[in-house]
Amino acid sequence: MARKLLIEHAEVPEIASYDIYRMHGGYASVEKALKTMSPEEVVEEVKKSGLRGRGGAGFPTGMKWSFLAKPEGVERHLVCNADESEPGTFKDRYLMEKLPHLLIEGMITSSYALGARRSYIYIRGEFMYVLRILEKAIAEAYANGMLGKNILGSGYDLDLVVTPGGGAYICGEETALLESLEGKRGNPRMKPPFPAVKGLWGNPTVVNNVESIAAVVPIVNEGGEAYAKIGIERSTGTKLISASGNLVRPGVYEIELGLSVEEFIYGDDYCRGIANGKQLKACIPGGSSVPILPHYLVTKTAAGTDRLMTYESLADGGFASGSMLGSGGFIVFDEDQCIVKNTWNFARFYAHESCGQCSPCREGTGWMEKVLYRLEHGQGTLEDISLLEEINKKIEGNTICPLGDAAAWPVAAAIRHFREEFEWHVKAPQEAQKRNFGLISAPIEA
Ligand SMILES: Cc1cc2nc3c(=O)[nH]c(=O)nc-3n(C[C@H](O)[C@H](O)[C@H](O)COP(=O)(O)O)c2cc1C
Repeated sequence: MARKLLIEHAEVPEIASYDIYRMHGGYASVEKALKTMSPEEVVEEVKKSGLRGRGGAGFPTGMKWSFLAKPEGVERHLVCNADESEPGTFKDRYLMEKLPHLLIEGMITSSYALGARRSYIYIRGEFMYVLRILEKAIAEAYANGMLGKNILGSGYDLDLVVTPGGGAYICGEETALLESLEGKRGNPRMKPPFPAVKGLWGNPTVVNNVESIAAVVPIVNEGGEAYAKIGIERSTGTKLISASGNLVRPGVYEIELGLSVEEFIYGDDYCRGIANGKQLKACIPGGSSVPILPHYLVTKTAAGTDRLMTYESLADGGFASGSMLGSGGFIVFDEDQCIVKNTWNFARFYAHESCGQCSPCREGTGWMEKVLYRLEHGQGTLEDISLLEEINKKIEGNTICPLGDAAAWPVAAAIRHFREEFEWHVKAPQEAQKRNFGLISAPIEA
């Protein structure tokens, strides 16, 4: 059975309360860090752990922390990105709802490491009930001397503020988040300067995902080296996966990185296979913004090696035959699902959520949605498929933030792997309205 470093106690009754969380070893990392370690030593442990950002991009957390500018007399901030709006990703909500004190503990230990004295949790606006859970837990942490002045007599002061997000997917992009936190419209900023130099209120700021911050707790408790022993290659530690779609047992799982995708989908400890005895048709392993994989590339790479739940293995083959671990939103499709309809559905989301700042994304996401609507509703042409590819190229890499790429990649991958199914929607539109295309076979060379 895999080790659980984050959610082992998630189902313990009343674990959301300070006392029960303490009884299960909670706040040990704060005691250890504030009483026995310097901030630099905490940063060093995080570097040694090899932890990579769990928000999607997988940037090494220790390295990000060491970029934080430290000019004399200037305030610094840690901002927790709890906006979690990516379709297919719901692990941060689970963690915050069940274990609010784990996030608060991670915020204290991480803020100490960064020298931040006022830190923020920016939580998705729709998660109002989770915000209330966090507010209650923060009040308990203050009441027990874990927040506020002179925490545990260490001389370190920290205030922690939780604030609801602006209700838009774009507010999860770190610079849009900072704009929104400052009370403005959540439009991404041009970079450089990066937040580590000029972030919230112009001060040096680190933005980290909920899970990245929570992972600092076991890293400090057990040491960075012990953490790095779990996993393989540059994918160390455990990872929360939100599994959804046609699975026997969807849900939030904590896996050790390096687990095989086959075991994750079919294993008894995990998702237990495809629901209703159906066959696997496709999988999006890292949230709606990463490329879809056809069934023959889900458990094996194009080179025939086992596909593993790691940053490297899921990306093996590049965009031709790979995907990304992303935020761990693992979406599974059975043989009855329509790829064109699904691609259109996601395109609708991105067209709705584009902030409109960059014209390739503002216009392109809307065009893609319209063209996909046509194809799905039996009004498309074969040229429409090429048109989608053209629009894709115009968006990719041409926007201030990666929302444009996030909208373009899934469409490109769907056409790359399921072109026949798109063409069938043009050639046999009436049939396509009545039944699904079914499975595709692997190309001969795959
Ligand atoms: C459109 C868009 C939405 C994003 N939404 C989230 C989000 O909800 N949560 C998150 O942690 N990161 C999100 N990110 C990534 C953040 O910009 C940033 O990389 C992340 O918060 C850094 O934290 P990490 O290094 O701990 O992963 C989003 C990025 C983009 C482009």
